[in-house]
Amino acid sequence: MLDKARGLPADQVFLDLEDSVAPLAKPEARKNVVAALVEGGWETKVRVVRVNDLTTQWTYRDVIEVVEGAGAELDCMMLPKVQSPSHVEWLDLTLTQLEQTLGLPVGGIGIEAQIENAAGLVNVDAIAAASPRVETIIFGPADFMASLNMKSLVVGELHPDYPGDPFHYILMRILMAARMHGQQAIDGPYLQIRDVDGFRAVARRSALLGFDGKWVLHPGQIEAANEIYSPSQEDYDHAELILDAYAHYTSDAGGKQGAVMLGDEMIDEASRKMALVVAAKGRAAGMARTTSFTP
Ligand code: GLV
Ligand code: MG
Repeated sequence: MLDKARGLPADQVFLDLEDSVAPLAKPEARKNVVAALVEGGWETKVRVVRVNDLTTQWTYRDVIEVVEGAGAELDCMMLPKVQSPSHVEWLDLTLTQLEQTLGLPVGGIGIEAQIENAAGLVNVDAIAAASPRVETIIFGPADFMASLNMKSLVVGELHPDYPGDPFHYILMRILMAARMHGQQAIDGPYLQIRDVDGFRAVARRSALLGFDGKWVLHPGQIEAANEIYSPSQEDYDHAELILDAYAHYTSDAGGKQGAVMLGDEMIDEASRKMALVVAAKGRAAGMARTTSFTP
């Protein structure tokens, strides 16, 4: 799995020491993770290790072994089941000590915080603000459903008996905290790995809210994720068109106009900001324009 992950078209890979590793296998898993990082070959992927959460006995050894063994090959550490800012502060201080000892740039290793229970969600603003290392807030739906006593075993599923989306509040709350601090908001796993349509349905909802991406558990989910969190070609072209048109019409040559018609649509500074979001996602995904602007 580690070997195969190296060449897959995902933006990030995280090597797990937490819930996919049986307690008795944790010491060996630490060694495997260090070896996989040191061996390299991860192309341009963001390299992340998920350690165990701070209510367990494993976290400190996870962090120390991984950073001592492969700190220079690590972009971020993922901390699961974060419940209070103190969890992030502990990791920040521990990473700082390790970086100082190892001669690594202090602050170089980022933190991805997983929100997976009520305490984490209630404290999410403080968690996001707890360290400048925090780059990403991640929704952990499986643990979250368990912690809320939700009556379903299918992550992210809408239930016919509930007239709404039971995950909307949680996703929105995480998104607010992440955006307030200029961080990424990432949706969690979809466990029915053979049901790509089910993955798509859940992913589409968080993508529409503004989430930046979603975990994939299997190579079969990657194409759907890349497509869903990128704009459609039509939206990407439209966004670039708005940016060009707005730049033109607000210029001297375009008449210094702040609000103009582009086809049947009025565009102004707010349109430019919306267009910038969509265009940035398209550019980041390597999309090419198929239309151009003519005044
Ligand atoms: C991920 O860790 C989850 O609990 O959904
Ligand atoms: Mg979890």
